[in-house]
Amino acid sequence: MPLPAKIGFIGTGSITDAMVRGLLVEPAAVPHVMMSQRSADVSAKLAADFPQVLVSIDNQAIVDGCDTVMLAIRPQIAEEVIRPLLFRDGQKVISVIAATSRPNLLEWIGADVLLTQAIPLPFVERRKGVTAIYPPDANTAAIFNALGTAVECATKVEYDLLASASALMGTYFGIMHRATEWLAENGLPEEKGRAYIAPLFAELSETALLAGKDTKFLDLSREFATKGGLNEQAFLDFDGKGGSGALKQALNRVLERVST
Ligand SMILES: NC(=O)c1ccc[n+]([C@@H]2O[C@H](COP(=O)([O-])OP(=O)(O)OC[C@H]3O[C@@H](n4cnc5c(N)ncnc54)[C@H](OP(=O)(O)O)[C@@H]3O)[C@@H](O)[C@H]2O)c1
Repeated sequence: MPLPAKIGFIGTGSITDAMVRGLLVEPAAVPHVMMSQRSADVSAKLAADFPQVLVSIDNQAIVDGCDTVMLAIRPQIAEEVIRPLLFRDGQKVISVIAATSRPNLLEWIGADVLLTQAIPLPFVERRKGVTAIYPPDANTAAIFNALGTAVECATKVEYDLLASASALMGTYFGIMHRATEWLAENGLPEEKGRAYIAPLFAELSETALLAGKDTKFLDLSREFATKGGLNEQAFLDFDGKGGSGALKQALNRVLERVST
């Protein structure tokens, strides 16, 4: 599936910055990108870094000038930004706006557009993103496959579940922080703890990525935990003393928020 000739971005904040850099880094995946001026510092820097960027102060000009429009504004202002815009029937619209329902988006858009929702993560900047999209859509998948991997969700339930899982990024770094903190409390200088923990976690993630699709994470957990050894003891303690319960409870609470 070829990528759209002109993608327009309404809202030029941190996630647009990451997506546009990912799309335009050499070799560029798309010929042109149009974006709203706001945030002015971000759009000015993107325009300075990439000649293919066209900045506009007029959101309607972006909708008019692009075949695919990416909505990347905060949920609190989404309605007031989207409602006044005139979209074309059949136009492709991708919303990355968090916690905003498809029926609301369609009502504000007010035209018979092809709407998909997506959850890009900051790694799209390095074309290493994994982006959940809903509903499945070849145009949207092509964009996010250029930025890493698109995961097409067959149902809203699947999409909400992946949205919940994406909320584990803070916990991932939080566990690294707590481990480093514990090392420091017990006498290891913080910089040494950091130098040890970051590659340890990076290599574990790499191992999970490289393992075949038939290898379950629990298989890896067992492989890295010798019977009666320290890793087994640590996981049994974590699991048995509420760690796994707390994790699932946290995911449940995120799911409640994203699925309303
Ligand atoms: N950051 C992430 O990793 C991430 C990941 C997935 C999804 N998202 C979602 O993507 C959306 C944007 O997130 P973000 O982190 O990029 O937020 P952000 O950095 O605050 O960007 C939002 C942008 O919208 C601009 N804006 C405000 N009013 C506008 C208007 N009337 N017309 C055009 N642009 C306008 C803001 O400009 P000013 O600064 O000038 O007000 C700002 O540049 C949110 O809904 C967020 O939930 C973010």
